[in-house]
Amino acid sequence: MTEPLDRRAFLAATGAAAAALATTAGAPAQSDAGAVFLSTWDFGAEANRRAAEVFAAGGSLLDAIEKGVNVVEDDPNVTSVGYGGLPNSEGEVELDAGIMDGTSHRAGSICNLHKIKNPISVARLLMEKTLHTTMAGDGALRFAIEMGFTPQQLLTPKSLTEWLKWKNTPNHSTFWIDREHHDTIGMLGADGKGKVAAGCSTSGLAWKLPGRVADSPLVGCGYYADDAAGAASATGNGDVMANYCTSFFIVNRMAGGAHPQEACNDLMRFMARTAPQLHEDMYCVIAIAANGEIGAASMNSKQPLQYALWKNGSGSIHTAPPFLG
Ligand code: GLY
Repeated sequence: MTEPLDRRAFLAATGAAAAALATTAGAPAQSDAGAVFLSTWDFGAEANRRAAEVFAAGGSLLDAIEKGVNVVEDDPNVTSVGYGGLPNSEGEVELDAGIMDGTSHRAGSICNLHKIKNPISVARLLMEKTLHTTMAGDGALRFAIEMGFTPQQLLTPKSLTEWLKWKNTPNHSTFWIDREHHDTIGMLGADGKGKVAAGCSTSGLAWKLPGRVADSPLVGCGYYADDAAGAASATGNGDVMANYCTSFFIVNRMAGGAHPQEACNDLMRFMARTAPQLHEDMYCVIAIAANGEIGAASMNSKQPLQYALWKNGSGSIHTAPPFLG
């Protein structure tokens, strides 16, 4: 539920007073500086900055994740998420997203959504306004329209040109035989007080077969969050990653006491053991513990994972160490 601004202002003021009191009493001050946001790829930096802004203004962790991911969904220059995302083989932009609250253990997931640029916002409404968890295709579009979203063309001149180029190339690759790579936004947040949340949004693989659903919108695959342990998200070849329930695997390892980095490495080890050829493709994960410690890993050293971190009130971009196990 959205709180009125005056209540937020009141909470912010009383929170600041409580923090000052705690400092005077010798305890460390708890402020927004305790919030940590972790996102995939360099475009995650702007998403983190927006999330931190929303959180500092009194928004919830879910508000922060949703609004942070919206930044990337709205960006026409990101061709793998939201508006401007590369379309399916028939030239239709088909979006997937999911969001999860680590406190209530509720999730919302939207698959194969056409014409609406912010699938993570539709996913959040599905989670908060209905008893369902996952909705796809035409039903998801009708739900979005009922929730007030306006359908629009999601192809940009750039994405249309790229699709036409692919379509008009003789013997072009297709997903019956080959695949193109792509980058998903996965975003995790920890509020510094024991709560975590996760979100994920993608247009999926370029030129995918219409109706294809991979890991990003699936709970436990593209994202997962549990306050008792932490949160995780995945980016890369989602057709394969979905088979490993990657995000649940990582959070489950953290629940058993593993550091987020160790949990990410464990997932890579598991994937590499069961399918050694996976070293050749892009499989990347990020993780955050409820205490704000983080992990990130990439299977393939030729396709390293960049991730964006917001911590102690400032942002930075890093490269995950490739998994060499
Ligand atoms: N990981 C995103 C996708 O494969 O669609």
